[in-house]
Amino acid sequence: MGKALLYNCQNGAWISAWGLLCAGLLSMSSTFATEPDIQLRDTCPPSFSLSDDNRCSLRHMYQLYDSLQDSGIGGLKTALPKARDGFSPQQIDLGRLLFFDPILSVDNSLSCATCHNPKQGFSDAMDRSIGINGHVQNRSAPTLWNSAFLSSFFWDARAQSLEEQALGPLFSANEMGNTPEQLVASLNSAVVYKRLFKLAFPNQKTALSVNNVITSLTAFQSSLVSLNSRYDQYAHGYHQALTDNEIAGLNVFRSFVARCSQCHTPPLFTNQQVAVIGTPEPEGLARDVGAEKTFNSKVLRGGFKVPTLRNIAQTAPYMHSGRFKTLREAAEFYTGGRGHAVPKGEDLLLHWHISEPNLTSNEIDQLVDFMKTLSDESFTPATPKQAPSGLPFKHMENAHEKT
Ligand code: HEC
Ligand code: HEC
Repeated sequence: MGKALLYNCQNGAWISAWGLLCAGLLSMSSTFATEPDIQLRDTCPPSFSLSDDNRCSLRHMYQLYDSLQDSGIGGLKTALPKARDGFSPQQIDLGRLLFFDPILSVDNSLSCATCHNPKQGFSDAMDRSIGINGHVQNRSAPTLWNSAFLSSFFWDARAQSLEEQALGPLFSANEMGNTPEQLVASLNSAVVYKRLFKLAFPNQKTALSVNNVITSLTAFQSSLVSLNSRYDQYAHGYHQALTDNEIAGLNVFRSFVARCSQCHTPPLFTNQQVAVIGTPEPEGLARDVGAEKTFNSKVLRGGFKVPTLRNIAQTAPYMHSGRFKTLREAAEFYTGGRGHAVPKGEDLLLHWHISEPNLTSNEIDQLVDFMKTLSDESFTPATPKQAPSGLPFKHMENAHEKT
């Protein structure tokens, strides 16, 4: 009887008189009765090497080059900024389990992966993401690939570290809606987490804490490295990795006419600055002031962080607003004339690299073909088979998967 009732509950077959009972059973069914056999990995993710003191250090080809990214505007053999690394394998793996577990949201409905789904380039295929209770977010979800290299976070650059960033989604009422107390309480109530936190933070008296949730999420996100695209192979000297057409696209990309690489500077494909480029807002919505608010500076009105273009083919729709559905639409924007999408009466101080490149249709196609060579998802981490909390993975297959 109890089982049949639970079955009904999970299928949404609510029978009004049983509603309350159903709710009780459903919340019970959210955690395992006995502790599931979940272990944490003791090896580093690919591309990381393990040190004697149990830390993972990132190794990549760009460490062979010592010229700084800032000094160039498209040189192929250019160094990357220093990455966040040095976390233990257990912290990275605990971060992975937390990232996919809907227990992080107050109503157990969303995980980080709902809006940053590895199947969608760690984004969600939506113009603007949807938080708890159907709250539409103001902006689209950026990719998390290579976030280990970034020095600021969010479209308006309002957070300076992954740790600071994570407080946003976890505790904002419209996103995951949690509170620090509630988060710790629900993790403690899931039988398995106490042991997992102890494994990841063995020397701490209270291993299960908000700080350690955030450290683990940071550790996991810093392991999302994508540096082996066909572009990278070309950059390291394997000429055949790109077709002639894609090389032509790369040349348009770094030309002084298109100027893409002056902001989307290789190898990260962002110079990590904020730029006002005047992309349009969603139909009928007011101007998103962007970085004006962060820096309290009028000249940055409508300014956004230059996003990386790595795995860009996977993360449509594009821009902070998700206004452009395809990569071609995004590329075409730049040739529409300086400020063409800025509404009349709106005074934006556009970046001087936004000009009138008058690219031909063929050159735009080539740009798109080139941007598609920046895909590399070979180190996509495994989605856990089950959430440690026992909560169902429904959040990974809801409306967010629809385009
Ligand atoms: C409801 C959807 C949603 C959920 C859930 C969510 N995010 Fe996000 N995330 C977004 C959106 C939208 C943005 C951009 C917001 C902005 O710029 O104002 C973002 C931005 C980010 C960024 C900044 C990336 C960059 O390059 O600037 C990081 C990192 C991030 N999220 C990590 C997380 C983590 C970790 C979690 C889980 C604790 C999480 N997100 C949960 C939608 C979501
Ligand atoms: C002045 C700096 C600058 C230049 C030059 C520039 N971009 Fe951008 N790019 C940005 C900024 C800033 C954004 C985010 C704007 C927004 O969200 O409104 C962006 C966004 C994009 C996006 C969408 C990324 C995403 O994750 O949604 C693509 C694609 C893109 N640019 C391609 C190009 C191409 C191709 C060129 C050259 C024709 C170019 N950019 C030139 C600054 C620049």
